[in-house]
Amino acid sequence: MGYPQQMNTAIIGLQWGDEGKGKLVDLLSEDHEFIVRFQGGANAGHTIVVDDKKYKLHLIPSGILRPQKKCVISNGVVVDPKILVNEIKNLPENHARIYLSDRAHVILPEHIEKENKLTHLGTTKKGIGPAYTDKVSRSGIRFCDKKWVEYFDSDIVRFLSPYICDTRLLLQEALEKKESILFEGAQATMLDIDHGTYPYVTSSNTSIGGLYTGTGIRPRDLKIIGVAKAYTTRVGAGPFPTEDTGKAGIHMQEVGQEFGTTTGRKRRCGWFDSVGVKYSSQINGIDEIALTKLDVLSGLNDLYICINYLLNGKQKTIPSNLEDLQNCIPVYTQIAGWHEDISNVKTFNDLPFNVRKYVDLLEELVKAPITYIGVGAGRDKIIKRC
Ligand code: GDP
Ligand code: IMO
Ligand code: MG
Repeated sequence: MGYPQQMNTAIIGLQWGDEGKGKLVDLLSEDHEFIVRFQGGANAGHTIVVDDKKYKLHLIPSGILRPQKKCVISNGVVVDPKILVNEIKNLPENHARIYLSDRAHVILPEHIEKENKLTHLGTTKKGIGPAYTDKVSRSGIRFCDKKWVEYFDSDIVRFLSPYICDTRLLLQEALEKKESILFEGAQATMLDIDHGTYPYVTSSNTSIGGLYTGTGIRPRDLKIIGVAKAYTTRVGAGPFPTEDTGKAGIHMQEVGQEFGTTTGRKRRCGWFDSVGVKYSSQINGIDEIALTKLDVLSGLNDLYICINYLLNGKQKTIPSNLEDLQNCIPVYTQIAGWHEDISNVKTFNDLPFNVRKYVDLLEELVKAPITYIGVGAGRDKIIKRC
């Protein structure tokens, strides 16, 4: 593919997660030396399809399937040692090398127990909230603290120990040697602890700020690619203005196989929300958008795109107050759908007219160039738009 002018890239979700970030990371990892997860934990679920084989990753960066690469789990991630050991053991033999930050916080069995008692947010029950709570209240345990070994079987400790190191230093040296780094965001901007639909969010900064605190480095020449589905999904509880529980939503859920990678829950589905995606695009200062799962919309007669929110009759961007957000009425524009199978199309100009019109309209509404278009789950099912 070639990546001559740009050294580093960040992949950030622009909706409520599961936009297909893992697939894009797998694709772009070919052009980067390092692939870094910088926040979240095993609440993430990234599915990658290579030669019809499915790989499901929760903690390990999605560059792991490229043998010569280096995959880093940096300090901003909260790590369940048992899940990480299992994930490493299930990798294909010639996978990339793995580095785990000694400053990353450890998810302890008690974090998972605590979370099991807290049900109303619809969390993934991986101990994420309680682990981050201990981190900010300064009672957490990190891999550099000798104490972490007391909580786990000695086989787990022995297995993970060789992977633990100072990843900040490793990445700083990589920057100095001009080795390129790909940053893999987990979750997405609407789940960000500061900018998302609080309290129906996750416990980390999923937007671009999390990259800096979560790694301890300051990459210059950073291209930020926001990932958005051609429609919208959300797993778990919380407001979702463009949710469609009718025929179209069922189509998206079934054709898009919208089941959570981590919990297996059905994902709620709805129309593309340009108000939300524009908001997320601004927060991250994105350079480009990768639009995924466009193929899933084939077969719908009419498509709707949310172009505005109205609150008490007045136009609104994403409100901070949850009740206000719940009371917002989405305003839609209707656009003709298409029935062609687009999953084998290789270039933008070969897409049917109505598909191109849909993409062009999204681009105009969100005010960012759409440079990748996903037309299927496989590694090669993506159109690069110049
Ligand atoms: P992530 O959490 O953002 O990495 O996304 P997930 O992996 O949880 O969910 C995205 C799902 O859609 C996965 O099953 C992918 O294999 C699949 N996928 C990704 N891009 C496309 C696409 O363009 N079309 C279709 N049909 N599936 C896609
Ligand atoms: P990826 O990386 C979609 C959601 C949960 C819940 C809320 C809080 O695959 O896009 P948590 O366990 O983090 O405390 O749960 O956030 N959530 C996700 N939804 N994709 C994810 O990750 C998610 N990670 C967390 O469903 O609503
Ligand atoms: Mg996912």
